[in-house]
Amino acid sequence: MDKKLTIALSKGRILKETLPLLAYAGIELRDDLATSRKLIFDTNRDDVKLLIIRASDVPVYVDYGAADVGVSGKDVLMEYGGEGIYEPLDLEIAKCRLMLAGPVDGIHAQGRLRIATKYVKTAKRYFAAKSEQVEMIKLYGSMELAPLVGLADAIVDVVDTGNTLVANDLKPYEHIADISSRLIVNKASMKMKHAVVKGFVDKIEEAVAQRKK
Ligand code: ATP
Ligand code: PRP
Repeated sequence: MDKKLTIALSKGRILKETLPLLAYAGIELRDDLATSRKLIFDTNRDDVKLLIIRASDVPVYVDYGAADVGVSGKDVLMEYGGEGIYEPLDLEIAKCRLMLAGPVDGIHAQGRLRIATKYVKTAKRYFAAKSEQVEMIKLYGSMELAPLVGLADAIVDVVDTGNTLVANDLKPYEHIADISSRLIVNKASMKMKHAVVKGFVDKIEEAVAQRKK
């Protein structure tokens, strides 16, 4: 049986907050992330490697089994869907809220509300549930700019401190979902590599519990 474990993570806040959990599980990076241009990273364990990829690509690698496990924001998971993924654990890191936000003086639509977002499917579902017809404009970042230049009436994006909204004369209007990062697992890996994957999930769960103490 294959006993190797491949973990998919994204650079930035998820990596930073996941490394201590991995350390608790006895997994430490060998390479210097800041300087390396590698995409596959060795760890102190011969049987464990890390893939460092874009946040929105993590569920794709796990869904297709190119990685056994990964860490993804709930925002990314809601948008991705994915039949091949289990979501066994809330890591309670990278916490934020998915919100509808718009200009401080109100959201003024001429005709159908135009929403700029990278969460097109999630936003569509949200407005469909309220029976509201909206037009979606897909963006890949800096959503806050869209209402300022007339590209959209409002945005759907994650908000943490609210500083980015304030800095751009925007404010939150509706709360769509609470977001945190989740440990995700490829369903086939959970079956085929049960001992190693379950052992890893249990150890990370312990690390999360330990951190709360
Ligand atoms: P990509 O590189 O694929 O565009 P990204 O730039 O959104 O993704 P990060 O900024 O590292 O990637 O965010 C990773 C996750 O952290 C998000 O999916 C979200 O769950 C959470 N997150 C995003 N912004 C914040 C924030 N300001 N505070 C806390 N958590 C956040
Ligand atoms: C995220 C998000 C908001 C900001 C919200 O951007 O897209 O712009 O954080 O955080 P705040 O409420 O604390 O200001 P991020 O910093 O991840 O930049 P990016 O989307 O360009 O990666």
